[in-house]
Amino acid sequence: LLRQLMDVMRIEGGNPLSGTIPVSGAKNAALPIFAATLLSEETCVLKNVPNLSDIRFMAEILEHLGAEVEQTDPTTWKITARNISHRAPYDLVRKMRASVCLMGPLAGRLKKAEISMPGGCVIGPRPIDMHLKGFAGLGMKVKVDKGYIFLDAEHACGNPIFLGGRHGSTVTGTANVLMAAVLTPGKTVIECAACEPEVVDLCKMLVSMGAQIEGIGSPTLAIRGVDKLGGCTYTILPDRIEAGTFLIAGAMAGEKLTVTNLRVADQGALIDKLKEAGVPLTINSESSITVSKSSEPLKPVDVVTHPHPGFPTDIQAQMSTLMSVTPGISIVTEKIFPNRFMHVPELLRMGADIAIEGPNAIVKGQPKLSGAPVMASDLRASAALILAGLVAEGTTWVLRIYHLDRGYDKIDEKLRAVGAVIDRLPEKDMPKDLNPESA
Ligand code: EPZ
Repeated sequence: LLRQLMDVMRIEGGNPLSGTIPVSGAKNAALPIFAATLLSEETCVLKNVPNLSDIRFMAEILEHLGAEVEQTDPTTWKITARNISHRAPYDLVRKMRASVCLMGPLAGRLKKAEISMPGGCVIGPRPIDMHLKGFAGLGMKVKVDKGYIFLDAEHACGNPIFLGGRHGSTVTGTANVLMAAVLTPGKTVIECAACEPEVVDLCKMLVSMGAQIEGIGSPTLAIRGVDKLGGCTYTILPDRIEAGTFLIAGAMAGEKLTVTNLRVADQGALIDKLKEAGVPLTINSESSITVSKSSEPLKPVDVVTHPHPGFPTDIQAQMSTLMSVTPGISIVTEKIFPNRFMHVPELLRMGADIAIEGPNAIVKGQPKLSGAPVMASDLRASAALILAGLVAEGTTWVLRIYHLDRGYDKIDEKLRAVGAVIDRLPEKDMPKDLNPESA
């Protein structure tokens, strides 16, 4: 890990991408699904798990809680949570926000949970009030004290629960309440549930363990609590955000880039915008799309992020990179995390022209970007910088790529295999005069 912390990514721009690039399993489905293994004392075998540091963190936390965790091959994990503790301390969960989704399974299975309160992060404040409202709605006693959340679910029972907030539904909030409800007596109805494919995947995994859930994929989830859940063997869905990042890479630099192992059905909003911009795109099958850089200039498009099936916030930064080299003015509006523009100052260093006005980025497309040392700040911002590096003139150095390793499975290897000139090297090998951190 220390080695990865100190790595940088070096990209020589201007090399066309061609061939086939495969998509890994979805991080944001795998994380709650790993947490859901705590709901049973039997073994769960999870397949198509991406190779990410966030997954390793989650595995470590489950082990600490008492589960037996084994990675049987690079994409398969076997987890048995026979005897587990209800307490997840700060030094463990602080590494990863997604550990918040341990609350639901612990409270569901053990009828009590004690978890360190997650912090904010660079994409803005990340409140969990709706999660807590959901738990209270299930009749749990909820207490926040000294940085910890205490849940007492001894008298919990199914109820109607409304989970909509000012930015719409909540993805991990829905997952959390759902995971508690599957082992809570009575009927729970979650209204304004998140409809993200990752929530659907979690529902399917829970059903394969014996949970009773109706309305899967809709904003109304009806759950009938059961006494016990069994083990399962479950294959995690493809990562639609990784897939979307590669589709945009193809639109920027593709000679004929085929993205495979994706689910076309999950890419509707992005495909629509790429077509509107004039990106040549062919759907080969349910799981494969070929995309190329247009020989004509693309058209600017306006993008507004929304909960699924709207345009995903997790692909906003990458789309902004595409628009920053598309002639004309594009307006990108972020409705989920209104401060999620950390990629912008770094793209400016590469010659982009983007102004931020509240939750809007006004992107004036430039004829070219130029390579520069830039700093990764969060996962998707990092991906946006890699995309910029692929088309920039000269060399781009992306520092702090541990953000990238949290959520992109071997992105450098995958891009190199389709023609990108990208490599990972220790930060100490980067020329000192280029490194803003070697002051
Ligand atoms: C999930 O975060 C994803 N993380 C995020 O992925 C993603 O950006 C986000 O959903 C939106 O799609 C995981 O799945 C692990 P939310 P989550 O609760 O669940 C507000 C990535 O790069 N809100 O759906 O935390 C919240 O502030 C990441 O992979 C409340 O107000 O997001 C936001 O404005 C980053 N109170 C909106 O709701 C709450 O209690 C949606 O957030 C909860 C959320």
